[in-house]
Amino acid sequence: MRIDVLTLFPELFHPFVAHGIVGRATTAGSLSVSCVNFREFARDKHHSVDDRPFGGGPGMVLMCGPVFDAVERLESDGLPAVRVLLTPQGEKLNQSIVRELVSADRLILLCGHYEGFDERIRVGLDAREISIGDYVLSGGETAAMVLIDAIARYQPGALGEPASLCEESFSDGLLEYPQYTRPREYRGMEVPEVLLSGHHSQIAAWRRRQSLERTAAKRPDLLPETKDH
Ligand code: 6GU
Repeated sequence: MRIDVLTLFPELFHPFVAHGIVGRATTAGSLSVSCVNFREFARDKHHSVDDRPFGGGPGMVLMCGPVFDAVERLESDGLPAVRVLLTPQGEKLNQSIVRELVSADRLILLCGHYEGFDERIRVGLDAREISIGDYVLSGGETAAMVLIDAIARYQPGALGEPASLCEESFSDGLLEYPQYTRPREYRGMEVPEVLLSGHHSQIAAWRRRQSLERTAAKRPDLLPETKDH
């Protein structure tokens, strides 16, 4: 999968893309992430990418020109892309949206800044608008990294064990069961006996029960009975 990021801060992405799961997917060749600074597409001598809002008000608004030109240049290689606009006004990211995006061969992620985009960017690019939650970020870059991380985990070669994708929180709509490793006892806290028993079906049943109990306690909104209410 190929991901192109349009951002005013490409250097923020370099260490992120080089390390961890994203780095592994990149090394494995299943993911390539490249960043384009759309300031390179500014048309005036000051390299402006933003301007004051028509109608007045505080802050600056990202202009159409550099953004449209950058997207068109990227797509001039003929490889179709799903365009994604990172914005607090978008649909809230979840695991099923991640899975949908993973099925694209190419994504163009557009990171906003300042007071937002000129509305014609949103309308004219026909982009999927995505938010990572109900809070304000100063720019779309950290949100784009969240999305890239979630996508990279699905790329071949990213995870040590592909089974990790099925076991973890949200893969079956529930939170993950508690995990333990050595030592068996730490500061008086013991590992549950069943996990030491070697009894696979009992372990699986215990984990399932824990997942359900945890989800009911911490995220009841995820349980099927309470969903859609
Ligand atoms: Cl995607 N962008 C910004 N600026 N703020 C956000 C967000 C995105 N998601 C949540 N808050």
